[in-house]
Amino acid sequence: MCGIVGYSGDKKALPILLEGLKSLEYRGYDSAGISLKTQNGIQTIKTKGKIIDLITLITESKIDTSATVGIGHTRWATHGMPNTKNAHPHTTENVALVHNGIIENYREIEAFLKSKGFKKQTDTDTETIAILVEFYLKEGMGFKDAFVEAVKRLKGSFAIASISETDDYIMIAKHESPLVIGVSNGETFIASDVTALIEYTNEFIFLNDGDIAIINKGDFEIFDANLNRVKRNTEKIEWSKEKAQKGGYKHFMIKEIAEEDEAVRNTIQSRIDEDGNVILDELKAETDFLKNIDRITIVACGTSYYAGLSAKPILEKYTGVKVDVEIGSEFRYYDYIYSKNNLFIAISQSGETADTKEPLKMARDKGIKTVSIVNVKESAIARISDHCIYTLAGPEISVASTKAFVSQLAVLYLLAFYIGSLKGKDTRDKAKYLLKIPSKIKEAFELTEPKTKQIAKDYHIYKNFLYLGRGLNYPIALEGALKLKEISYIHAEGYPAGEMKHGPIALIDEKTPTVIVAHSLEPLYSKSLSNCEEIKSRMGKIILISDKVSPLADETVKMPEIDYEFLPFTFVVPLQLLAYYIALFLGNDIDQPRNLAKSVTVE
Ligand code: M6R
Repeated sequence: MCGIVGYSGDKKALPILLEGLKSLEYRGYDSAGISLKTQNGIQTIKTKGKIIDLITLITESKIDTSATVGIGHTRWATHGMPNTKNAHPHTTENVALVHNGIIENYREIEAFLKSKGFKKQTDTDTETIAILVEFYLKEGMGFKDAFVEAVKRLKGSFAIASISETDDYIMIAKHESPLVIGVSNGETFIASDVTALIEYTNEFIFLNDGDIAIINKGDFEIFDANLNRVKRNTEKIEWSKEKAQKGGYKHFMIKEIAEEDEAVRNTIQSRIDEDGNVILDELKAETDFLKNIDRITIVACGTSYYAGLSAKPILEKYTGVKVDVEIGSEFRYYDYIYSKNNLFIAISQSGETADTKEPLKMARDKGIKTVSIVNVKESAIARISDHCIYTLAGPEISVASTKAFVSQLAVLYLLAFYIGSLKGKDTRDKAKYLLKIPSKIKEAFELTEPKTKQIAKDYHIYKNFLYLGRGLNYPIALEGALKLKEISYIHAEGYPAGEMKHGPIALIDEKTPTVIVAHSLEPLYSKSLSNCEEIKSRMGKIILISDKVSPLADETVKMPEIDYEFLPFTFVVPLQLLAYYIALFLGNDIDQPRNLAKSVTVE
């Protein structure tokens, strides 16, 4: 949801800003811009479109590329159309400013500024902040004080970076939108997340909400919300820069699907010992509480929500307690009734999703014990929860989430076995089986990729798809349909197969293929075959994802053998591949699908 980047050092700022923006492009990609503090004052270039369009414009311009201080932005529009006028940075006579988030009281500020004779040029909330800083400058304040005064008046969520005509430093502020400082000798970087900076440093400072900082060539001062000078810890992040690059793959999405075995291996290997005992040091302090939990509430959005749904039967089976899986955007407006010993779990790849963060805060405020499952280190959700269990999937860049899903599943299975064992169940054999999952995922990828590619070639012309599954395969069908929608823009509906006759069967004809996901050992396998019969007799085409071939199917993606309880790990793989290859045959922008952004930090 918008990416911001900034540099202050002794090197040329422009290439660093552009490389940073390329890495952040997954956060938003409808317009982009940069401002440099040059010998001749601030120079700004911005445009509708992607970073590549910005680079073309810069190459054709006469901008002073020797500047060593600058800020940049890649946008996902919230207020105002995605056009050049509304692109960031927003400028006034003395200020350039970039922002990620939403200013809730911008109309009120706008009215105030209007009364003082200031006029907006754009349709954005962000420009109001730039003008407010300008107002305080005109009142006679220095840049630092003017920025601080402006920030004090803002309500909403923001990560802001600003430069001025008068000074050489960058002012930044953070409140409920991510912002990190990258530290290196003689230079300081800022960015919405670490992926933009891992090429330059692996030392980061994660700001708290309310923090304001002055960034000046290797130096920085941080102030808290009360403007007291504060020290924030420097954290080392071990993500390698290769992980944030395509590494020979055509798209991040296919690279990330191919990395799923490694993502799960990294997530589980140090958390299961050779006897099958699950070791979750993150929860050591909660042993007594976990022994006595009587309910688990999982909240998440999108693919993370489907990870929760997929693991629900496993969690219920091994912990013996009721598990509710809730969608964050609904849950936050719902007066949920917790039980006495309720465990609350928030799942989020980015750790920044507003619709997951809010329910987490609500649970925490009610005194409920919270655990988060997060991929991005030190992200808001990781920091707010009582305990965080990181998925160790490495950076996920493609907007369509894939390796995060299987890594989240891995943590949820670990939790099921861990809590189960605390409650007296012997889960060691199951935990040992989990150790085999990475190689099973690899096998599933290798075995199913050629077939899904062929199916995609034949089926990418269809406009509607139905996805059906039962039991553990129902959430997998939902996830398969979501993947197809997101990147191919084909309408796809996921349904529990048993519900077909209660409505969706009306959709079936020769123009609507059905993807049926079924494991031969699932209790209702024969019923899934009956669904195939019903579809066939209505001229519908069937793509079967199963470990067993059926003559009823027009196409079968044959799955390698896997224990029924673990099937979500492998059965999701051909569905991700099918969506990927269909989108590829359609010529879509796979890693950056239209209208979407990787982390949804606004409501
Ligand atoms: O970062 P999160 O896991 O909290 O994100 C949740 C959803 O926005 C995300 O899974 C979204 O549905 C993906 N684009 C799915 O591929």
